[in-house]
Amino acid sequence: MARILIVYSTTDGHTRKICERLRAVIERQAHEVRLAPVAEVADADLEPCDKIVVGASIRYGRHRPAVMEFMQRNAALLNRKPGAFFSVNVVARKPEKNEPHTNPYVRKLLGGLSWRPREVAVFAGKLDYPRYGFLDRMIIRFIMLLTGGPTDPETVVEFTDWGKVEAFGEVIARM
Ligand SMILES: Cc1cc2nc3c(=O)[nH]c(=O)nc-3n(C[C@H](O)[C@H](O)[C@H](O)COP(=O)(O)O)c2cc1C
Repeated sequence: MARILIVYSTTDGHTRKICERLRAVIERQAHEVRLAPVAEVADADLEPCDKIVVGASIRYGRHRPAVMEFMQRNAALLNRKPGAFFSVNVVARKPEKNEPHTNPYVRKLLGGLSWRPREVAVFAGKLDYPRYGFLDRMIIRFIMLLTGGPTDPETVVEFTDWGKVEAFGEVIARM
């Protein structure tokens, strides 16, 4: 049995929901899983873990600074353990941008990171216009207009391929 820590960075909760699905899959393989938002993880929590997973969503073109700092600060330790990273963004709803080597955010992240996670994934996220503030809703709708996505302000849609999430959970359980 391995002790697996899943550290996540979320703004609207969708990355957390993906983490919960990963946990369900991994626990079926009799591993112990802890989920923790990046703000609640002390660097000292990492050493006792056998494997570490980091998941983060994109907001306005970037993973949040706190999760970037976490990965850079702990890169040496992370590189000593089996590790996985996944990104959540809506660009990944497009088939030609939903793999680590084709998704612009993941490519950029891996290019600038000292951590070399053994496994990397990218998942399409969720749009929830009614939940967003006025300005965010207008900006995201405009981006969707430019990129062929939904613009109806009532739209709530999960683009996430849950089968792909579950398959990644199996990979983490085995790595
Ligand atoms: C204000 C805002 C900005 C966003 N910016 C981007 C972006 O630049 N690129 C992208 O692909 N997705 C973008 N998204 C989509 C999010 O990545 C997507 O909604 C994801 O599911 C959010 O996950 P979270 O709830 O864990 O934060 C944005 C969403 C919001 C609300």
